[in-house]
Amino acid sequence: TAPLRLGIAGLGTVGAGVVKIVRQKANLLAVRSGRPIEIVAVSARSRNKDRGVNLSDYAWEDDPVALAKRDDVDVFVELMGGSDGPAKAATEAAIATGKHVVTANKALLAHHGQALAEAAEEAGSILRFEAAVAGGIPVIKALTEGLAGNDITRVMGVMNGTCNYILTRMQSAGLPYDEVFEEANQLGYLEADPNLDVGGIDAGHKLSLLSSIAFGTKVDFDNVHLEGIQRITIEDIEQAADMGFRIKLLGVAQMTGRGLEQRMSPCLVPEQSPLGQLEGGTNMVVIEGDQVEQIVLRGPGAGEGPTASAVMGDVMDIARGLSITTFGQPANTLSKAKAARADTP
Ligand code: NAP
Ligand code: HSE
Repeated sequence: TAPLRLGIAGLGTVGAGVVKIVRQKANLLAVRSGRPIEIVAVSARSRNKDRGVNLSDYAWEDDPVALAKRDDVDVFVELMGGSDGPAKAATEAAIATGKHVVTANKALLAHHGQALAEAAEEAGSILRFEAAVAGGIPVIKALTEGLAGNDITRVMGVMNGTCNYILTRMQSAGLPYDEVFEEANQLGYLEADPNLDVGGIDAGHKLSLLSSIAFGTKVDFDNVHLEGIQRITIEDIEQAADMGFRIKLLGVAQMTGRGLEQRMSPCLVPEQSPLGQLEGGTNMVVIEGDQVEQIVLRGPGAGEGPTASAVMGDVMDIARGLSITTFGQPANTLSKAKAARADTP
């Protein structure tokens, strides 16, 4: 069978992790997907950086857009990050030239996901983004596949490991926010722009993607009510503990009489609940559906292995020929169906 040929743009934490899996598990991946998975070309900013992986077998492109357009690439794997710039340009170029796309980039999708999904649908490309929400937890697969027979009533969870680390560390060590923030900084947990983490923006990006999938609505990041953790004090945490609660940066998306409600804000959760017990950088997503009642998924929301694992899950689906688009609003299908209904006398 013909190999599935990958072009990987971005060779940082996640990109290097994906290269390692493809190199180290070649046989397993081929057996599981029914065809070899090969990397043909890669791109990053600096060609000579040591990334702890052997890249000598692959073509190098300085320009990720050129990589995205290569004729020998079947799947463009976008692992650069950023809501605009090269990530957006290269993803658009990949779709325009008929490639499938796998990305971990929640910022890109929260801002441009709807347009990209519609372009992909038009071009016959598959756009996958399991790694963009809750890292290694296969929550998008759970919603679109295992729970496909449910009406989803609510999705909620802790989707930013850095904030959960800061809040649990404040609680367990009795340390003030500023001190734990600096600790998180020293440990390399914070995004280059820390406000993405502590301002709730990164988690809000993830919630907007998840709620779009859960409720079949357009991605609507602008209407996520956002509140970060910067103003949480040690006194807040202690008072909550006295009443048997923990403070968590909790995302909640639910359909109400006023439409879709999406909130990402610090909330009190009972100490003894699964969310209350969630420690450190771990993520948890709680899905409620009319048939299953409640499902709780817990796992690593970040890091090389977990995030690369989710990227590879998407790659494997494409290799197997699974062509469902996982975005919430099957844009053309739905709008065409609606238009057809409107035309019907
Ligand atoms: P990273 O370590 O900062 O790596 C980014 C990579 O992109 C680097 O290799 C960098 O090149 C390359 N790059 C940046 N700008 C570029 C440009 N203009 N042209 C070509 N290459 C460029 O980032 P990461 O942590 O792997 O994250 C990648 C994506 O995964 C992001 O969207 C992130 O939000 C998402 N994600 C990450 C995690 C995680 O745990 N890290 C979890 C979930 C999702 P150089 O190496 O040469 O600088
Ligand atoms: N900054 C993010 C977090 C990285 O802390 O969860 C993973 O998306």
